Amino acid sequence: MCGIIGYAGKENAVPIIVDGLKKLEYRGYDSAGIAIYGVDGFDVVKQKGRLAALEARLVDRTITGCLGLGHTRWATHGEPSDENSHPHLGSKNKIAIVHNGIIENYKRLKERLEQKGVRFASQTDSEVIAQLAENYYNGDLLDTVIHVMNTLEGSYAMGIMCIDDPDTIIAVKKDNPLIIGVSEHGNFMASDVPAILKHTNKVYYLNDKEIAVLKKDSVQFYNIDKESLEKSLETITWSLDSAEKGGYPHFMLKEITEQPKIIQDTIQSALKSGENKTIIDNINIKSFNKIVITACGSAYNAGVVAKYVFEKLCRISVEVELASEFRYKDAIIDEKTLVILISQSGETADTIAAMREAKSKGAVTLSIVNVVGSTIAKETDFCLYTAAGPEIAVATTKAFSAQLVLLYILAVNFAAKLEKIPQETERMLLAEITILPDKVSNILEHVPYIQMYASSCIGYKSVFFLGRNIDYAIALEGSLKLKEISYIHSEAYAGGELKHGPISLVENDTLVVAISNCGRLNEKITSNVEQVISRGAKVLIIGNRTDIQQNEKLSLISIPEIYELFSPSLSVIVLQLFSYYVAANKGLDIDKPRNLAKSVTVE
Ligand code: AGP
Ligand code: GLU
Repeated sequence: MCGIIGYAGKENAVPIIVDGLKKLEYRGYDSAGIAIYGVDGFDVVKQKGRLAALEARLVDRTITGCLGLGHTRWATHGEPSDENSHPHLGSKNKIAIVHNGIIENYKRLKERLEQKGVRFASQTDSEVIAQLAENYYNGDLLDTVIHVMNTLEGSYAMGIMCIDDPDTIIAVKKDNPLIIGVSEHGNFMASDVPAILKHTNKVYYLNDKEIAVLKKDSVQFYNIDKESLEKSLETITWSLDSAEKGGYPHFMLKEITEQPKIIQDTIQSALKSGENKTIIDNINIKSFNKIVITACGSAYNAGVVAKYVFEKLCRISVEVELASEFRYKDAIIDEKTLVILISQSGETADTIAAMREAKSKGAVTLSIVNVVGSTIAKETDFCLYTAAGPEIAVATTKAFSAQLVLLYILAVNFAAKLEKIPQETERMLLAEITILPDKVSNILEHVPYIQMYASSCIGYKSVFFLGRNIDYAIALEGSLKLKEISYIHSEAYAGGELKHGPISLVENDTLVVAISNCGRLNEKITSNVEQVISRGAKVLIIGNRTDIQQNEKLSLISIPEIYELFSPSLSVIVLQLFSYYVAANKGLDIDKPRNLAKSVTVE
C-alpha cells in the first residue's frame, strides 16, 4: 500500500515531505524514509517503525534541499527493516526511487541484473526499479523511465530522481494512485490529496502509464511514447480541517461524530442537487435483470446491507461477492447485469480487478466511491460520490455510513422506476432517509453510556455478533470493526446459524452482541439470546426494543425507531462506538491498527 510524496520547489523539502508523510501514514506504517537532493548528492534517511522514529532520527541531522522524495511503507516483499525501507538507491547512487505497488517480474529482473554484477541492498521488489534505471540510464532520465516502465510488470506509483538532474522528479503510475499538485512555491506528487492540501488544492490526476516531469516552476506530462500531453487542473473542495484531528484523541472518534453531517451531505447530493442526482436519474434500471455488488471489507458489508434493501424494495435479484473472489470466478454476468462496485478509496486492487472483469464481460458498472478522481471513479460507467471528505482512520466509519445512505436512495429510486412501490411509499421511504442524520445525532448524545458499557468489555477473548436479515448484514460490520481495532477475536453469524455449529464456542467468557431491529424476527433473536445466556454468555442487545428486561447477564443499548431496512445506519453508530471504546480502554493505536493499511492497493 504505502504512501509516497515528492516535492520539487523553492523551499526546504524536508519539513514539507515529513509533514506530507504524516498525512499518508494511514496507508502504511512499517517504516518511513526520505531522500533529499542535498549539496553532496542524495541524503537518505530511512527507519523501520512509525514515522515518529524517522523524525527522531532527523532531529540531529541538518539535511536541506529543495528536491526530495518520501515514503511510508506497508511491506509486501521483504520484512519491515531499515534496509527494506524506501527510498531505494541504485548501487551507483545515481538514481533514487520511492514505490507503491508490486513489481511482479522483479525476481527475473533481479537475477538478470545480479548476473551483470549489480549488488542489491534489500529484499524488496521495489529496489529493482532503481537498479534497472541505473542500468538503462543513458543521460536522459525521461527515456530511462520509459524504458523501465516498458520492462516492469505489476503495479506501481513511483517517484524517481537522478543525480544528474538536481531539479527534476519524474512521477509515473500504473494501477496505483498518484496525484500531481501545483503550488506557488513548488510542485508535488503524492498518493493522496491530504498529503499536500496544506500547500495547494490544485491537482492533476495522473492516468495509468502517464508520466509527469516535475520541476520547481513547471509540470510537463507525457505518454509512454514520449508525446507531450495536455491535462486539466482540478480543484479539490476538501477543507484542510477535514484532514486534521481537531482536538479529538483519534481520527476515528472525530469521523464517527462527523456522521450526521456526512449523511446529510450525501443525501443532499443524491436527492436535491449535484452530480449524484443526475446520475441516479440517468440509470435505466429496467434494462437489467440482475444486480451484482462487489467490494472488499467494510464496503462489502455495505453491499450485504444493500442486498436486503434492493431485494425487498425492488424485487430484483442481487448477488454480493467479495471482489477478491469475483475477479477469479468467471462470473455469470452480461450486458443485462448492473455491477455495483463500492469503495472508499476507489483504489482497492481487488475491486479494481473486479471492475475490469465486469467491464470485459459487457456488464454496466456503477461505482460508489469517496475519493474523487480515483481509478474506480474514473473507469466505471457511472460513479456516485459519497460526501464523506477525507477519511484518515484505517477503520472506516463515516465513508461506510455515506455508502449505506447512497445505497438506500438508489434502492428507492430503482424501486420507483420499476414500479414496485407506490408513490406514497416512495415518499415515506425518502422521509425516513432524510431523518437519519437527526437520529444519528440522537445516538451520539448517548456516547457516555456506550463508553461505560465498552469499558467493561475489554477482558473478553471472543465476541459473537448475531442478527437476522438486515441485522445480520450489519452484524458483519460490527464484528469487522471490533477485530480490526481491538484485536479481540470476533465473528458474525446469522442468528439461525448458531445452532448449526458456532454455539459450541459459547462459554463463560463469551460476549454476544445481538442486533435486533427486525420486528417480525425479534422473538427469534430473543430465543438465540436465551440459548447463549443459558450457556454462560453475556449479551448486549442493540436495537429498538422496549420489551427487554436488563439484568446481570443481559444489557440493552436502545436506538431510535426507524424504517427497518434503514436501521443499519443507526445500529452501526453504536457498533462503531463500542469498538472504539473497547480499543481505547485497551490503550491501542486505534487509527493505525497493526498489520493494516487504509488503502489496499496490492493484491
Ligand atoms: C474498513 O474498516 C477496512 N479498513 C477495510 O475493510 C476496507 O473497508 C476495505 O479495505 C475496502 O477499502 P475501500 O473501501 O477503500 O475499497
Ligand atoms: N512492494 C513494495 C515493498 O514491499 C511496496 C509495497 C506497497 O506499495 O504496498 O516495499
